[in-house]
Amino acid sequence: MSASAPSIEITTAELNSTHISEPGLFTSDLISPAIAASLPETYTIRALRKSDYARGFLDCLRVLTTVGDITEEQWDDRYHWMNTQGKGGYYLLVIDDGSRVVGTGALIVERKFIHNLGIVGHIEDIAVAKDQQGKKLGLKIIQALDFIAEKVGCYKSILDCSEANEGFYVKCGFKRAGLEMAHYY
Ligand code: ACO
Repeated sequence: MSASAPSIEITTAELNSTHISEPGLFTSDLISPAIAASLPETYTIRALRKSDYARGFLDCLRVLTTVGDITEEQWDDRYHWMNTQGKGGYYLLVIDDGSRVVGTGALIVERKFIHNLGIVGHIEDIAVAKDQQGKKLGLKIIQALDFIAEKVGCYKSILDCSEANEGFYVKCGFKRAGLEMAHYY
């Protein structure tokens, strides 16, 4: 090999900059600048990225419910689906503390015929890592999802939660409306 041949060694700094420049599920103009600016130093709020598989996204979700043993290939397939067929419908965001995902939430956007082609946001899968709870990250995730919902034209956002979490959503500005029913398959 000649002395001028390019090196194929990848440094940690290069890996980090690849991660930072990687596009996410949606564009950064949908991230509230006010929420981004209110986070502790080193923390960022951004769209979910494919590389979040290796940054503890699924572990963060495990504080919410069962996730299962999802392989990287299965993750890539689901991410690809959301980023293609699901484009414009799936707004999954994360809070990253600089080394791992410590919070996440999703806004699923439903386009209707009723209410003059109304658009409704469904807030889903809110989770903050156990050791990060109580620092207002949950509140900021909801406010960031509200920002996206307004920007993409939703006339309201709705969610289902347990009685134990009602107080949290009231603090986030939600109020009890209707009754949840389920049919499991
Ligand atoms: N009940 C009543 N009030 C609460 C609760 C609760 N369960 N949780 C937080 N609060 C209050 C806080 O005390 C705070 O009040 P303050 O402003 O007066 O100080 C305010 O709500 C904001 O709290 P945060 O610090 O932002 O809450 P946190 O970052 O801990 O996130 C969350 C709350 C998301 C519920 C977190 O505890 C968590 O991940 N829990 C496990 C997973 C879960 O249950 N997720 C929600 C599922 S429902 C859904 O996804 C639609």
